[in-house]
Amino acid sequence: MPQPVTVRAPGKVNLMLGVGPRRRDGYHELTTVFQALTLYDDVTLTPAEHTTVSIRGEGAADVPLDETNLAVQAVRAHATQTGEGGPVHIDIHKGIPVAGGMAGGSADAAAALLAADALWGTALDRVALSKLAAGLGSDVAFALHGQTALGTGRGERLAEVLGRGRFHWVLALARGGLSTPAVYTECDRLRETSVPVPQLSAEPVLSALRAGDPVALGRALANDLQPAATRLRPELQVTLDAGLELGALGGVVSGSGPTVALLARSDAHAVALAARLSAEGVCRTVRRAAGPAPGARVVQPGR
Ligand code: C5P
Repeated sequence: MPQPVTVRAPGKVNLMLGVGPRRRDGYHELTTVFQALTLYDDVTLTPAEHTTVSIRGEGAADVPLDETNLAVQAVRAHATQTGEGGPVHIDIHKGIPVAGGMAGGSADAAAALLAADALWGTALDRVALSKLAAGLGSDVAFALHGQTALGTGRGERLAEVLGRGRFHWVLALARGGLSTPAVYTECDRLRETSVPVPQLSAEPVLSALRAGDPVALGRALANDLQPAATRLRPELQVTLDAGLELGALGGVVSGSGPTVALLARSDAHAVALAARLSAEGVCRTVRRAAGPAPGARVVQPGR
């Protein structure tokens, strides 16, 4: 029997997220810049008699253990694609906030895919893995890729972004989750009733990244889903305003929310900002993370 394999995959923040019209398949055409952050989930696959799942870490109780779990779907997709493998126990150690708009489920899918490939020695290349990833969800290909990338299509078509510098984030986690389809639907509804706005351009974010300039990046952060997310959860606007008031360089709802990502000037500034935000009581809890971070990779268990 092959030895267990552990893969670590990162969460993400969208530095900008431009949402185009709804396509015929129900998805929206996106332009987005993803940045992977140093918040990780570890997924360990161990050959077993039946495929089962266990989940540890904060928010574990809110993650399904059945076939709707994206890691289970990833293991199944790998087996269908390669004709190799067998039942496994999937152990997920959560470090990425659950249902927060930081692609924790997608990270688990990416990690499970890479772990299945390593466990069963199927040696799929990057193109084959990315294709499988894209079939599992819009953010899964990015969790494999990591670093900073421009995403188009429904977010699964990736191009490397060349940038400089390391960015320090404070993540304000909200109480409860937000349904991604509900946020997209609210975005469509708001657009029907308001004057059309031009689609967001990625250029200000890309230029700030090229310069490695956190002040410019703070100003360029933008998300077309933010009005919908704050409409559904008005307290997110309170969190954003408090973060800016406390000296964040910029703030944005991450993906479809409800996590709010605030950019700090430095690691030390992130420590101070996190403490002050926590004291204000404008969110459930805070986390700090840096980006960019590497994509899914095999690690030694427990490290
Ligand atoms: O692909 P994923 O499962 O992450 O998407 C979750 C939901 O988010 C989709 O069912 C869809 O409602 C919405 N979505 C969208 N356009 C995208 C990505 C996601 O409308 N580009």
